[in-house]
Amino acid sequence: MIRTFLLGLLGMTLMTACTAPSAERSKSTTNDADAVERVIMARRSIRQYTDRAISRDTLQRILTCGVNAPNGQNRQAYELRIIDNPQLLQEISDAVASDTEVRMRRGASTIFAGAPCVIFIARDTTYDISAIDCGLLGENIILQAWAMGIGTCCMAAPTRMMLQSKACAPYLERMGFSADYELLYCIVMGYAAESPEAKPRKYDEKIHFVE
Ligand SMILES: Cc1cc2nc3c(=O)[nH]c(=O)nc-3n(C[C@H](O)[C@H](O)[C@H](O)COP(=O)(O)O)c2cc1C
Repeated sequence: MIRTFLLGLLGMTLMTACTAPSAERSKSTTNDADAVERVIMARRSIRQYTDRAISRDTLQRILTCGVNAPNGQNRQAYELRIIDNPQLLQEISDAVASDTEVRMRRGASTIFAGAPCVIFIARDTTYDISAIDCGLLGENIILQAWAMGIGTCCMAAPTRMMLQSKACAPYLERMGFSADYELLYCIVMGYAAESPEAKPRKYDEKIHFVE
């Protein structure tokens, strides 16, 4: 009897743990449309940051939104590693710069544009379309961050350089991605110290209805 009760309790706990805290039953409302559109259209890539740290609670909320993105067969074919220690980010950047040709942004001290936090995203190499999962995960992170007043920049150049750099190998090892996972890109983030203009988009050239 007690055993059954305890097993039931364990089952309920596990079910709760597997549910995102803010996940709600699906119901899209027209009220949401303006807010979502505003965030999408106002977001810009940020490449200059203040030193202000992002709290772990805030990061957790943003990351939960990321993992709630659509993904192939719900395999969630990515792994994330978050570094919110600027000193460690500087060390990684210095290691890469020691043996790889790096082009640092003007005024930036790291290959991560001086951001105080970086999310590293690896893809499952055994799943041919895992890069799509990684991209959608990232977009959710980027939009939720923006909605919470935090700037981001999706970046592939730093991770490319990290993979090329022998001196960076110990840091990649420390990140401990599972076998079969490979680092794909990163999202640098922090409180913005710039507010760039929107870059032009080729709407007419890119969008065609097929009749
Ligand atoms: C896959 C991908 C890789 C990117 N890599 C870099 C990068 O290495 N460095 C960088 O400064 N921006 C990078 N960006 C940001 C783009 O340059 C930026 O999104 C684009 O110019 C449009 O500007 P916006 O994001 O402000 O609308 C990358 C974006 C994507 C989607």
